[in-house]
Amino acid sequence: MPGKGIGYGKTILFGEHFVVYGLPAVAAAIADKTIATVEAGKSGKGIEFIDNRPEVLGYKETKKDEIKAELKAIIEHLKIDTAKTPLKITLTGDLECASGMGASAALASSVARALNEHFKLGFDDERINEIAFIAETAGSGTPSGIDNTCATYGGMIIFEKNLAGGKNKIELLKVKKPLHIVLASTGITQETKNVVAEVKRRKEKEPQKYGRIFSDYRKILNDALVALENGDAEKTGELMYLNQDLLREMSLSCPEIERIILVARENGALGAKLTGTGRGGTVICLAQDAKAQRKIAKAIEAAGFGTHMTKIGAMA
Ligand code: MEV
Repeated sequence: MPGKGIGYGKTILFGEHFVVYGLPAVAAAIADKTIATVEAGKSGKGIEFIDNRPEVLGYKETKKDEIKAELKAIIEHLKIDTAKTPLKITLTGDLECASGMGASAALASSVARALNEHFKLGFDDERINEIAFIAETAGSGTPSGIDNTCATYGGMIIFEKNLAGGKNKIELLKVKKPLHIVLASTGITQETKNVVAEVKRRKEKEPQKYGRIFSDYRKILNDALVALENGDAEKTGELMYLNQDLLREMSLSCPEIERIILVARENGALGAKLTGTGRGGTVICLAQDAKAQRKIAKAIEAAGFGTHMTKIGAMA
C-alpha cells in the first residue's frame, strides 16, 4: 500500500542563527506543506525519486546534493535495503521550495511519515521529528532542529536547542490574535550549512562584537515573547525590525532583502526581517490586518518579488 506523509513549511519570527547557539527562537509552521508518497518501485531501480514540488527557479538544482543526502540518511537510518525493496518516492504539495521556507525539513518530515505508513512502522511524532532531524543534519550540517520541529508538529513554538545533546525545549506559544504575514521571496537560494558556517567563523573572529549582538538579541526576544502573548502586533513588528538590524550586522542581509523590507515599511508593514538562512531566501513582513497585508504584498510584487500571504498563530 502506498504511504503518504506531510511536512509543513515554516517561518522564523525571531532568532534564526541565534538558535544554533542555544538561544530561544520563535517560529511558526505555515499551512503550506510538502506531501510525500512512497510506493513499491521497479525491481533493480533502487530509489526512483520524483520531485514535483513548486520551486523558486534553480532551487532544486542548487540543493540537489542536500536533497540526495537527506533521502539517503533517512533510508539508511531505517535500514531499508532498496536493492531488495525498491521504492518510488514522489513529492508534491503547495509549499514552494525557496530558502527560508523550511522546505528541506518539510521534505524530511513528509518522507519519514510516508515511509512510516508504507512499512507500518508505528512511529509517533517524536520519532518522526527525530528522523527528520537526522536527515536535516545529513543535508545541512549543524541544524538547530527548529525547522524539522515546525515541519513535524505545526503551530507556533518557542524553540531552544539543548546544546548538551539532550531533548530540545519546545513550548507551544499561544498568541491572542493570529498574525497577518507576507512572505516575500528574493529569488536567491542559499545553502544553509555554508551560511551557518560563515556566521560561526565571524563569531569566533569577533567574540566581543558577537557577544554584544547576542545579548541584544536576548532582550529583543524577551520583549517579543511578552508582545506576542499580549497580541501586541505593533510592538512585535518593532522588535522584528530590531532583530533584522542584528542580522544585518551579522552580514546575513543582502540588497534584495533590504529592498523588500524598505518597500514593506513604506507600505505600512509593522515589522519585517529576513527569515531562515538569509543572504537571500525569504523575508517575513508583519501586517496590521488583512487589508494592510494585501497592500504590502501588492507593493512588493510591483517591486519585482514573489509574495505569499498567510496567517500564523491560533486564537488563545
Ligand atoms: C534555518 O531555517 C535557520 C537557521 O537558524 C539554521 C538552523 O536553525 O538550523 C539559520
